[in-house]
Amino acid sequence: MEYMPVRIIIGAQWGDEGKGKIVDRLSAESSYVVRYQGGANAGHTLKFDDKTIVLHLIPSGMFNGNAKCVIGNGVVIDPIALVEEIEEVKTLDVDLKDRLYISSSAHVILPYHKVLDQVKEKSRGKDAIGTTGRGIGPAYVSKVSRVGIRMSDLLNEELLEHKVQSNLSDINNALEHVYGHNHLDAKKMIADLKPVIEAIKPFICNTTELLHDALENGESVLLEGAQGSLLDVDHGTYPYVTSSSPTAGGACTGSGIPPTAITHSLGITKAYCTRVGNGPFPTELDDSAGEKLRKNGQEFGATTGRPRRCGWLDLVALKYAVRLNGMNELALTKLDVLDDFKEISVCTHYELDGKRTDIFPLDSHEVEKLKPVYKTFPGWLQSTRDISDFNNLPEKAREYIKFVEDFIGVSFTIVSTGPKRSETIIR
Ligand code: GDP
Ligand code: IMO
Ligand code: MG
Repeated sequence: MEYMPVRIIIGAQWGDEGKGKIVDRLSAESSYVVRYQGGANAGHTLKFDDKTIVLHLIPSGMFNGNAKCVIGNGVVIDPIALVEEIEEVKTLDVDLKDRLYISSSAHVILPYHKVLDQVKEKSRGKDAIGTTGRGIGPAYVSKVSRVGIRMSDLLNEELLEHKVQSNLSDINNALEHVYGHNHLDAKKMIADLKPVIEAIKPFICNTTELLHDALENGESVLLEGAQGSLLDVDHGTYPYVTSSSPTAGGACTGSGIPPTAITHSLGITKAYCTRVGNGPFPTELDDSAGEKLRKNGQEFGATTGRPRRCGWLDLVALKYAVRLNGMNELALTKLDVLDDFKEISVCTHYELDGKRTDIFPLDSHEVEKLKPVYKTFPGWLQSTRDISDFNNLPEKAREYIKFVEDFIGVSFTIVSTGPKRSETIIR
């Protein structure tokens, strides 16, 4: 069978690479936009027509064209957060009928998952992961340990009550006796859910079949990753990761789209690196250059408002992400953030225990010990904002981009020079 473009869009770093912006830009040419993992830990920012929108659960394809937006089975959904987001989208004159589809197999985040996330983080003390506190880890634990509640269960009142009560009896035990937290009331939780369920009911359906039909009809699909490759539960800097698989395989399991249907893997990378939360970050800068990246790039979390840690672009880590996801296209975002830097560095390899290495270690303790080795470029010292033709970028910027492309072996098909939809170069 021949498929139309089915493109996975994956963060190549630790999240916040500008996936939302790129998905919004590309969605006009797509029939479907699908979120496949993560939950409201994601914050995807869209800017167009002087509007700024931050989406956490709804796919970023809602505002540019008429793509059907699907929340796939691999996502963990906080129904309360979802209804808030639905209301916000409605205020922007978007009619969600025939635009939003929620998988009946997606798992539900309940208030107890958020409480567990928070008490567990607190009890970890200095070893805390720095989660977003959105209940993501505990919700995936419920799913994998087969006590999860799925969207379809929300439509069966009796079953829902039974499941919430049975889960809470276990969880309350832990909350009271291990974490010294007060117990949570099942009846109240179910009562609070009722109006929320009414609001989302019309959107719950079999999205697997919807997507299979779409593939057979030759429709084009964007699979919108959340988080990033280095936050992947298997391939990231474990345990300082999220609890899902943002990498390419996760797009298949989290949507029901088979691997043979995927035609493109588009990696998104900033022209530098950021990380929010704890865990190793080899190129992190604690100096004025790091401060300047944060200031120029407005690097504060879209979900939690936390300042993001900043550092130079890490080409070893980027190459790892490219190989991990079979990325055959790359988008470079936030190039403009480097506009006023006299010098710009990229990490080309590391030193580990005094020896050169070109490999991103799988063990976080080793990642912690890496010393980055840099190649430094002269800055272009002029604005790249609003440039829409690649050839009009300053020569030094093009040289920098060319070096990265040659190093990684994949071309930048998209270069982003500002947060707005229009500030995008498509080559
Ligand atoms: P996501 O989680 O990958 O969707 O990224 P976020 O929305 O969390 O963070 C990216 C931030 O950078 C947002 O505030 C975007 O508006 C902004 N942004 C995206 N692309 C560019 C760009 O090319 N230049 C600048 N200056 N900002 C950008
Ligand atoms: P988007 O989709 C950046 C980080 C958290 C923490 C770790 C685990 O906007 O790129 P979790 O709440 O998932 O259990 O937290 O992962 N994290 C993100 N960092 N961007 C995100 O999403 C993130 N989602 C989670 O800060 O370090
Ligand atoms: Mg984000």
